[in-house]
Amino acid sequence: MAVYQIRVFAIFYYILGHCVFINNIEATHQLYRNLQSVSSSSSSSNQPYRTAYHFQPPKNWINDPNGPMRYKGLYHLFYQYNPKGSVWGNIVWAHSVSNDLVNWTPLDLAIYPSQPSDINGCWSGSATILPNGKPAILYTGIDSNNQQVQNLALPKNASDPFLSEWVKNPKNPLMAPTTANKINSSLFRDPTTAWLGKDGYYRVLIGNQKETTGRALLYRSKDFVNWVEAKHPLYSAKGTGMWECPDFFPVLSKSMSGIDTSVNGPNVRHVLKVSLGSKLHDYYMIGSYDVKKDKFLPDTGLQSIESVSRYDYGKYYASKTFYDDAKKRRVLLGWVNESSSVADDIKKGWSGIHAIPRAIWLHKSGKQLVQWPVVEIERLRANPISWPIKVLKAGRHLQGTGVTAAQADVEVSFEAKEFEKAEVLENWMDPQVLCSKKGASVKGGLGPFGLLAFASKDLKEYTAVFFRIFKHQHKPLVLFCSDQSRSSLNNINDLTTYGTFLDADPYQKNLSLRSLIDHSVVESFGEGKAVITSRVYRTLAINDEAHLYAFNYGAADVKITRLNAWSMKKAQIN
Ligand code: FRU
Repeated sequence: MAVYQIRVFAIFYYILGHCVFINNIEATHQLYRNLQSVSSSSSSSNQPYRTAYHFQPPKNWINDPNGPMRYKGLYHLFYQYNPKGSVWGNIVWAHSVSNDLVNWTPLDLAIYPSQPSDINGCWSGSATILPNGKPAILYTGIDSNNQQVQNLALPKNASDPFLSEWVKNPKNPLMAPTTANKINSSLFRDPTTAWLGKDGYYRVLIGNQKETTGRALLYRSKDFVNWVEAKHPLYSAKGTGMWECPDFFPVLSKSMSGIDTSVNGPNVRHVLKVSLGSKLHDYYMIGSYDVKKDKFLPDTGLQSIESVSRYDYGKYYASKTFYDDAKKRRVLLGWVNESSSVADDIKKGWSGIHAIPRAIWLHKSGKQLVQWPVVEIERLRANPISWPIKVLKAGRHLQGTGVTAAQADVEVSFEAKEFEKAEVLENWMDPQVLCSKKGASVKGGLGPFGLLAFASKDLKEYTAVFFRIFKHQHKPLVLFCSDQSRSSLNNINDLTTYGTFLDADPYQKNLSLRSLIDHSVVESFGEGKAVITSRVYRTLAINDEAHLYAFNYGAADVKITRLNAWSMKKAQIN
């Protein structure tokens, strides 16, 4: 063990022995009071898990993306950041800018505790571009009484495209729990981007919980400074607990184009996303926004949570969208937490990354959203490999792809024809449970077929992303899985297998899969309709030992009709 490792372990176990781990009652993050300001002495040389093109700061803890926007030609990303350590705590808004959502340059911290209304932390929030073209940020402050309140910050100099300095409103807090509104002061946070109604009032949502009911509280204001709570939340659902980081935005019915948050009218539907603190997943509902009543009417409400879609069926939380007026698209950003132990996070000196920004639009069925990595990421592609049509024979069939698999982008399409060989699924089952029961190594009928990423040559380690087609009520049912159970020999890591059913008919259209592979993350898009993001900490499949295979362990042949793969260049990230 290197000297620095011994030192880090010694510090960690010393602190472990002397502190009480308490569940933070205010946020969903674990608060380790005595670790939050411990910085790692880890050298940057031995860092196999740092990403090459997924966003992360040089060191320390990060969580939610905050206030994303495009301003004067630059993309701005703020994020929840602990400047002092690699666990959650000491939270401020760090700030980076980009020309392309891929390469990022760090700027100084943008918002940090400085007034009574945020002296104990600057938590999540959003940016709104006002009609005068200037941005405004609403964020949650933890005030001197440890209450969650909402604050406003404006740029010091709006002609500065870097927006490097922010001035807080002297009237802060602008929204606060009081004895009159009876809002629980530790369950009131994360303002959305505001939207402007035809009546000239801005509206903003704040995440909240009352008893067991999760609520998106609605506030209105004429001037962005004086905010009044509406009589009813925009939407609420019993038994769902705390709603963090709500996001509310319009989508067009029959177009991939995005629209500004304030746009409404014919052909417009609305999406409400909430980050459920109890599940640590982002759920979205598609529905109608009744402007007269200021209410959201989802097609399927959160009460029937099993039927509500998620942005991602792996590790992905506290996401936020913004409207990119340059490319007329809505872009989704999200936080991907580690699956490693706190001791390992302290040892490596950092924790958390962001997913690749995704363009997001309404599927033509109107029933779900489609997500796809922003096109700019394709500029990192190098050394293309393209396969002619190939049959993966039934049985245990493996085929190496030959790409540099620690940093890769792979697109593959599968044609599966022998429906009679599909296994019968009598009773519906939770797809994640089904994926872990029938992992990649369990032979099947039609599938499993897909990709093995980060595979060591002896296959002692691999992360499998695959499909399995069942026959359920005489129809095909496609299961989409990311199996991490063999992704690392270090089983202190969370090796949970993820999965979902995919709304696809494999007999009408080939099944497509795209995976973005980057050192310790695999982000996989099943048809763009379901996404699974996994964190992976390989111990053997390092550097040249990381292979990428296509595989078929089913009883039926499967045809690969297309496989395009690229090594990915390193992005300039902070
Ligand atoms: C979500 C969250 C937010 C909160 C922030 C604190 O991950 O808990 O609700 O504002 O993180 O860092």
